[in-house]
Amino acid sequence: MKIYLDTANLGEIREAARWGILSGVTTNPSLMARETGADFKETIQEIAALVDGPISAETVSEDADGMVQEGIEYATWHHNVIIKVPSTTDGLEAVSRLGRRGIRCNVTLCFSTSQALMAALAGAFVVSPFIGRLDDLSQDGMELIREIAAVFEQNSEIRTRILAASIRHPRHVVEAALAGAHIATCPFKVLKKGMRHPLTDKGMASFLADWRAREVDMALAGASSG
Ligand code: E4P
Repeated sequence: MKIYLDTANLGEIREAARWGILSGVTTNPSLMARETGADFKETIQEIAALVDGPISAETVSEDADGMVQEGIEYATWHHNVIIKVPSTTDGLEAVSRLGRRGIRCNVTLCFSTSQALMAALAGAFVVSPFIGRLDDLSQDGMELIREIAAVFEQNSEIRTRILAASIRHPRHVVEAALAGAHIATCPFKVLKKGMRHPLTDKGMASFLADWRAREVDMALAGASSG
């Protein structure tokens, strides 16, 4: 299981990159819109300078011609840029056409196994099932990951990776890994929460308190023997 960061915020990417766990970054138009005033191309290039792995940049056209045109341009920004296109028939066409030019795609907004299968057959590099948005509708996002993983497993010619997206909490990451996802793209706050545990905090506090008490004892012992 690989971890990508799901953000366009350079501060978050810089910090998570220092932890040494990041294999890529995904952005989308909503995440970009949160970075007020930031230039899209410059942001993607700065991200690519921070993380050595696939960086997803999403197209905003609704037709295949527009997606292909955007994709060709984004691909010139950095060799690690992956073109994000929606799970639509135009998206499939864009994946096929960009693939013929050696440009890799992330098929996003995937909510069904049939979408994932067709994205894979079109040659998608990754497909992004959105777990959290399905859970929000009382559907089982993790079951979708399991089903896609089973289909891909049975069809050994499929090379497309499953990128679990719309991750809401650390347990989603663990369950996605168990369900067969190859990658999980996580908001920064989910990554931070994934390393928090009250027993770790409690353990650290008691280890440090014991160490300080030992130093005081040693200082007192030194003072009385001198
Ligand atoms: C993935 O590539 C998307 O950017 C993201 O995971 C969407 O998540 P959301 O449902 O929290 O917006």
